[in-house]
Amino acid sequence: MSNAGFLKSSIGKKVIMGATGLFLITFLMVHCFINMLIFFQDGGETFNKGAEFMGTNWLIRAMEIVLFVGIILHIVQALVLTLENRKARPVPYEKINGAANSSWYSRSMGLLGTLILMFLIIHLKHFWVVSRFTDHIAHNEYEKLPGQETLFKEMMEVFENPMVVLVYVLAMISLTYHLLHGFQSAFQTFGLNHRKYTPIIKKTGIAFSIIICTLFASMPIAMHFGFVK
Ligand code: HEM
Repeated sequence: MSNAGFLKSSIGKKVIMGATGLFLITFLMVHCFINMLIFFQDGGETFNKGAEFMGTNWLIRAMEIVLFVGIILHIVQALVLTLENRKARPVPYEKINGAANSSWYSRSMGLLGTLILMFLIIHLKHFWVVSRFTDHIAHNEYEKLPGQETLFKEMMEVFENPMVVLVYVLAMISLTYHLLHGFQSAFQTFGLNHRKYTPIIKKTGIAFSIIICTLFASMPIAMHFGFVK
């Protein structure tokens, strides 16, 4: 099969879903690690340094382009796969005890993905647009011009609103379930099906999904309730 033929085949599309998914998982780990710097209780000094590095390092900026291409590819392939599956089977499967045969979240990847996409649009508007496309954000407290805030202070302000905190927490619950299925599905796509290793991969996926999303959810909560100073 030619390369183009492979990418257009359903397995090719699943490989793109899996590869972009694994790349996005790596991004989540780095993003979570940098964000955890808010817990240093130093008025955001360490966090702002981390954010400045992420915003100015050329390699990270280049990866940002790869990241956005990855997100778009992941979404487009998900839509194409869903439409093709529907076309291949216009009459839906008769659902005989669906809950016993698969988890609800593996059957709801589209819904969970859409909720995460809605979160992402709100989220990018909150921070990324403000920090990259306006001059409202200062790198640190000492270089602040009138009318500017550091990214840390901007986060504190955004998370003053309890509705925003609620949206973030609900999004992190959606992300947990999306990752619970996505993590092991990606490994399965790459043929990693092994008597000894598959259970370990499954457990790692469960731990990863829960830990990373709980850490993310703890940030708006901690900032809202004043646990971060
Ligand atoms: C819930 C806790 C989260 C907080 C407090 C948070 C905070 C931030 C902040 C402050 C930025 C701006 C960084 C900068 O401009 O230097 C940012 C960027 C971004 N966030 Fe989040 N984030 C969270 C969760 C997430 C999640 C779960 C995703 C993905 C599903 C995500 C995706 C992104 C993307 C794509 C960017 C822009 C790219 C970049 O700056 O690297 N974030 N986030």
